[in-house]
Amino acid sequence: MDYDLLFTPFKIGNMVVKNRLVMAPMGTFTPNSDGTASKDTISYYERRAKGGVGMIIVGAQFLNRELAQGGLSGILEENYVIPPLTELCEAIQRYGAKAVCQISPGTGRNSMPGADGTPPMSASAIPSYLDPNILCRPMTLEDIQEVIDGFERSAMLAKNAGFDAIEIHGHAGYLIDQFMSEVWNKRDDEYGGSPENRARLPKEIIRAIRRAVGPDMPILFRIALDHAFEGGRTIEESMALIKLLEEEGVDALDIDVGAYESIDYIFPPTYLGDACMEYVCEPARKNVSIPIMNAGNHTPETAVNLIKSGIADFVMLGRPLIADPDLPLKLMEGRRKEIRPCIRCNQDCIGRIMTRLTKLSCAVNPVAGFEDRFTLEKTEKPKKVIVIGAGPAGLEAARTAALAGHKVDIYDKEEKVGGQLAVAATPDFKRPLRELVDWYENELDRLKVKVHNGVEIKADDKILEKYDYIIVATGAEPIIPAIPGIDGPNVLNVIEAHRNKELIKGDDVVICGGGLSGCDSALELAAEEGKNVTIVEMMDDVARDDLFINRFSLLRKLEEAGVKIYTGSKVIKIDEKGVEVEKEDGSTWLIPADTVVTSLGMKENREIAEKIMEKYPKKTRVAGDCVEVGRIGTAIRMGFFAGSTIQ
Ligand SMILES: Cc1cc2nc3c(=O)[nH]c(=O)nc-3n(C[C@H](O)[C@H](O)[C@H](O)COP(=O)(O)O)c2cc1C
Ligand code: SF4
Repeated sequence: MDYDLLFTPFKIGNMVVKNRLVMAPMGTFTPNSDGTASKDTISYYERRAKGGVGMIIVGAQFLNRELAQGGLSGILEENYVIPPLTELCEAIQRYGAKAVCQISPGTGRNSMPGADGTPPMSASAIPSYLDPNILCRPMTLEDIQEVIDGFERSAMLAKNAGFDAIEIHGHAGYLIDQFMSEVWNKRDDEYGGSPENRARLPKEIIRAIRRAVGPDMPILFRIALDHAFEGGRTIEESMALIKLLEEEGVDALDIDVGAYESIDYIFPPTYLGDACMEYVCEPARKNVSIPIMNAGNHTPETAVNLIKSGIADFVMLGRPLIADPDLPLKLMEGRRKEIRPCIRCNQDCIGRIMTRLTKLSCAVNPVAGFEDRFTLEKTEKPKKVIVIGAGPAGLEAARTAALAGHKVDIYDKEEKVGGQLAVAATPDFKRPLRELVDWYENELDRLKVKVHNGVEIKADDKILEKYDYIIVATGAEPIIPAIPGIDGPNVLNVIEAHRNKELIKGDDVVICGGGLSGCDSALELAAEEGKNVTIVEMMDDVARDDLFINRFSLLRKLEEAGVKIYTGSKVIKIDEKGVEVEKEDGSTWLIPADTVVTSLGMKENREIAEKIMEKYPKKTRVAGDCVEVGRIGTAIRMGFFAGSTIQ
């Protein structure tokens, strides 16, 4: 494909952006505790600008500390934040990219209630998202004025810092959206009731920013055109709103989909597929004439198609630029195959932020968020390194060791590289995983790593003596509990089921075990193979080990695919008729099945690792699932640590 179309300049107001690729706003949770931009923040954005993107929208900066909820995001309240932000702007602008400041008045009903139970504020007394028993505090006219004044002050600080444009954080059912949407705005004053009244707050915010920044600095507005949940704003309703925003002087619209009721659109998992929010562009194009930008699971190919279609002017890339900051440069230089794909797992970007309250990184790019610390220097003492196991940990260890200048051989007993990664990648909805395996293969080839497939290395193999350093990454294997009939001819484990679909006989399939891999397998067999699938899970819920955002998407897809789920149900026997299950009350029944797939967990494949460690303690390191069964990102991280620190 020809990507040149992406590298044509385009204007927003009078601002010329050098190409059509925009980095979507993404909070990093890296600011200093006083809300200023930290060195980590600046280095992270600088690295993305260096990679060639045309414009970077810096993740939400809040009007004040209270709205930022805990100071984990940038705060634009007082003048002391300006100098570090200038450093940030100039680090971006040095590479010819435009720097945009996204400003947020907070998340309203989606924010955490205070420690003392103080309710979040919103347009109206609607239930808080996190605790529906708490009703939000409706904002008074003084509160509203404070927000408007806050925008004026924050925009002035951003302009002084050197930003090229401002973006208003109006999407995702956050505070401004709560005013704009009938489902949340129940006010009977001038800020509620008619569509014009519901648009009053955003219009007053636009006017306040304009007062602060003058006539020339572009103002962008981020808005969800389809809330994608029952009762939320529809595309038709959003059209009137965007016309009002355009009339008020907004210079570009950043349009997407979703609210926390449809949270997978805010952080789209792999289940949503490519370009999952592109469908809102066409109606928007028909109703406004200002530039349109669109984010959500874009690939370089969907980006070209979107621009070619003429329904948008900029393609936004969020997580793809976390995964590979050099994506634009690589496209420009005809190096498409070298782009490391984002696997849409959400685990180490938003997952880290939301579940661990720590800074962003990336499952496939451990350097993200650690740009200054995890630098890879070329070694002056190249070593002969053997990596045993070509799963995610082994592949990453081999890649980084080779990048550091070591001479690397990688061995795997299977005929193909990828380990669990390749196994899990068989469904269509996991295509990014297949791309990741392809990417590793290509990188190892480029870096002249010797790949030896179909060879099993044992601890007493003489070959180990000739290496200076050994990295063992032998992964994990399925747990097969002693259930009567589990070794029957109609039973496969989940790995066999992914690998050899022809072994799945008949229409009725029962999956024993409703963890993430059991659920993914169920979805694949139901949605892609047309099977009649039932999941049996002993615990009270399925996919409990999954990040809640991904799980939300997965459960919706399982329902759409007609997968039946029985929780609180223990598998006690398998035979040729199907699976016998016991409920908590002791009752039993048979679920008929032609094929039974077991997905009852994985256990570390430690044996070889322990033996090699014992034999060569000074030159061995273990990494990945053979240390502790975890996620792909955890394995890649361990592999990166092992491969990048050989001394
Ligand atoms: C870690 C993370 C933080 C985000 N923070 C913001 C934010 O501060 N403001 C915002 O408007 N959207 C935010 N988003 C949403 C992204 O801008 C974008 O819409 C989403 O990631 C989909 O685009 P992508 O598939 O290219 O990543 C965030 C997303 C992620 C993954
Ligand atoms: S953590 Fe996963 S979703 Fe997030 S950027 Fe990295 S690969 Fe993409």
